[in-house]
Amino acid sequence: MRMLNTYLDAAIEIAQQAGGILREEMERPPDIAYKTEFDLVTQADRRSEQFIVRRLRELFPQHTVAAEEGSGSDTGSDFRWHVDPLDGTTNFAHGYPCFCVSIALARKNELLLGVIYNPIYRELFCAARGQGATFNGKLIHCSKINALKNSLLCTGFPNYKRLVHPNIHYYWDFTLRSHGVRRDGSAALDLAYVAMGRFDSFWEFGLNPWDTAAGVVMVEEAGGKITDLQGQPYRLGGPSILASNGLIHDEMVQVAAEIAGRPTPI
Ligand code: IPD
Ligand code: CA
Ligand code: CA
Repeated sequence: MRMLNTYLDAAIEIAQQAGGILREEMERPPDIAYKTEFDLVTQADRRSEQFIVRRLRELFPQHTVAAEEGSGSDTGSDFRWHVDPLDGTTNFAHGYPCFCVSIALARKNELLLGVIYNPIYRELFCAARGQGATFNGKLIHCSKINALKNSLLCTGFPNYKRLVHPNIHYYWDFTLRSHGVRRDGSAALDLAYVAMGRFDSFWEFGLNPWDTAAGVVMVEEAGGKITDLQGQPYRLGGPSILASNGLIHDEMVQVAAEIAGRPTPI
């Protein structure tokens, strides 16, 4: 598509500038509010989102903008920007430098591009449909690890119903069957890390479209595979996501099916 690179360049510039806002906000004591008991939101989330939404509206007034903190708007356009102005808010609020800005563009149901930017390490991940994925300007590919027992995995836990969430069983089981499972606290970066081979697979339950949209196109363009945990096609906002380098995907799905088939103690 002729405009794809125009959209990508705009998303890169906006993500980097929003990242500058997050760096600035890191310098002051966090101003934390709670959406629910453990679901944090800070002034940094809001400032970053206001900036991103304003710039997208200026540049592409016809497009729909769906942004986590609710300041976007639906224009009825086929083009929809998915914006997570700060993915990893809990990390941010504790000064743990694992968070990012995540911006994706979809046309109808097709994800066209994704940009993920960690402003602290200045790590920029970009992908455009049909053009591959890059890390700080260099083409990236998923890892070549072809057995679960040799893999490094990653997952995340939701901010709600934590006591009864089944993911703890998956965490336990996958930990015993791999080199380990990291829990880094930013789903968008987790997916970007699968795309560049730092992780061999990532799974999580209950993520929203803004958490995964950019990362999904990133992993696909880096040669990886995205489904749900049952191995069925992934739907943005669906109940689970499984991303992998493709080579350990079937094994991940098999183990997930075993775990799901057991009676759980809680
Ligand atoms: C959260 C992060 C985290 C994931 C949570 C998400 P937020 O997003 O991506 O890694 O485990 O489920 O809600 O709230 O920091 O934008
Ligand atoms: Ca998020
Ligand atoms: Ca967020």
